[in-house]
Amino acid sequence: MSEPTRRDFLATSAALGAAGIVAPLAAGALDFASLQSATNGAKKIINIGLIGCGGRGSGAANDTLTANKNVRIVAFADIDVEKAKGIRDALAAEHGDRIAASDERIFGGIDGYQKVLDLKDVDLVILATAPGFRPVHITAAVAAKKHVFAEKPVCLDTAGYHACCAAHDAAKAQGTAIVTGTQYRRQPSFMDAIKRIREGMIGEVVGMTARYCSNGIWYRDRKPGMSDMEYQIYNWMHFIWLSGDQICEQAVHNIDVVHWVMGGPPVRAFASGSRWSRPADSEMWDSMSVDYEFANGKICSFTGRHWQNCENQFDNVVYGSKGIATLRAFSDGSRITDLAGNELWSCKGDIGAAYRQEHAELVESIVTGGSPIVELRQTAESSLMAVMGREAAYAGQSATWEFMTTKSKLDLMPKLVTLPGDAPAPFVRKPGEYRLQ
Ligand SMILES: NC(=O)c1ccc[n+]([C@@H]2O[C@H](COP(=O)([O-])OP(=O)(O)OC[C@H]3O[C@@H](n4cnc5c(N)ncnc54)[C@H](O)[C@@H]3O)[C@@H](O)[C@H]2O)c1
Repeated sequence: MSEPTRRDFLATSAALGAAGIVAPLAAGALDFASLQSATNGAKKIINIGLIGCGGRGSGAANDTLTANKNVRIVAFADIDVEKAKGIRDALAAEHGDRIAASDERIFGGIDGYQKVLDLKDVDLVILATAPGFRPVHITAAVAAKKHVFAEKPVCLDTAGYHACCAAHDAAKAQGTAIVTGTQYRRQPSFMDAIKRIREGMIGEVVGMTARYCSNGIWYRDRKPGMSDMEYQIYNWMHFIWLSGDQICEQAVHNIDVVHWVMGGPPVRAFASGSRWSRPADSEMWDSMSVDYEFANGKICSFTGRHWQNCENQFDNVVYGSKGIATLRAFSDGSRITDLAGNELWSCKGDIGAAYRQEHAELVESIVTGGSPIVELRQTAESSLMAVMGREAAYAGQSATWEFMTTKSKLDLMPKLVTLPGDAPAPFVRKPGEYRLQ
């Protein structure tokens, strides 16, 4: 057999769960047949496949069903097929026959995503698995000519970044949509603040701080009988090839705001960090701080940490020559003051509405035809900024954008992923030993 490539890593697989329960589909909430024919044949009903049926996948499914009257979910995939069936049933209890997936349309195993993509009637897929798989799933979804909603982060290494850039170009060329789960880009408290920053309310932007400092993250204990690969995918947060560490998995939201405010990626990252409290087999660090230096010499500083019993902080603060803009995460709103602290503007936040808005805009851009939204490259850049900061911290070396995009060979994805099977041996990156790659 020839050497497996990044794209055929799913060669063999088995579902984690056994065949199971059958839920009868609930009776008619919407008459899809008449809704479809009322559009004179134009594609107005969007059939969705959900790939990755965890917390956010089920949340995103609920968001699109709530935001869009003209969508239904017709297929599911998750490594754990029983979990996917449970999510199907929970969504059906809420949304009735808009969940139109019998057990034959629920796929387990590592190749379940491809079975959803092979279904001709699936128009759009929501990609919400562990993020390490995202570039492979995006690439396959675009090749299958599906519209895509891809959760963040969209890549955890340079190989994934290049795959995303190629998928972005291919989607543009063929007229399929890609919207990403960077919901702050659709939250008025962020959009309106950045509009005012652009209009000069705080004068010239001179720098920025961005923080994702929380008390911690889940750790899932290995279950009896799990192979190394099953365990790592189950406890994916703690393995860098699957999560990218906290800076990619969570803080990419803040780093995306830095990208947005500064109008693109930086030239260099200088970083530091610590690790002292993680479980022995976790590859994650406890904290990371990155100074992102932009072409004009301006610095945007990021701080991220998981420290128990400490202060939480998630603010993005933009410093200007005439004022300061504070863009607060979740639903905490934004505020702009002058340099004396007098409030010039403020706005409440509503993250729930932003989660729904991204799905509303995605579906609207598909059904109206013309130019569906394709925003993958922007999120690939933000994701690579997070990777760049992480690698600079791990290595204790400055990382440049030029190095990350043109020279780096960083490719974390194992060449073959099988279930059950072996997984990369976990290791903690140590500055001075680990080098940029
Ligand atoms: N936009 C946001 O604010 C936001 C919030 C939470 C999570 N997320 C993102 O959503 C994604 C999922 O996070 P989550 O919290 O739902 O995690 P989760 O662990 O709850 O769910 C992930 C699911 O994916 C499945 N899975 C993993 N690898 C798979 C594969 N190769 N094929 C099929 N199924 C696979 C797992 O079995 C699990 O059910 C992550 O990328 C995360 O960063 C985004």
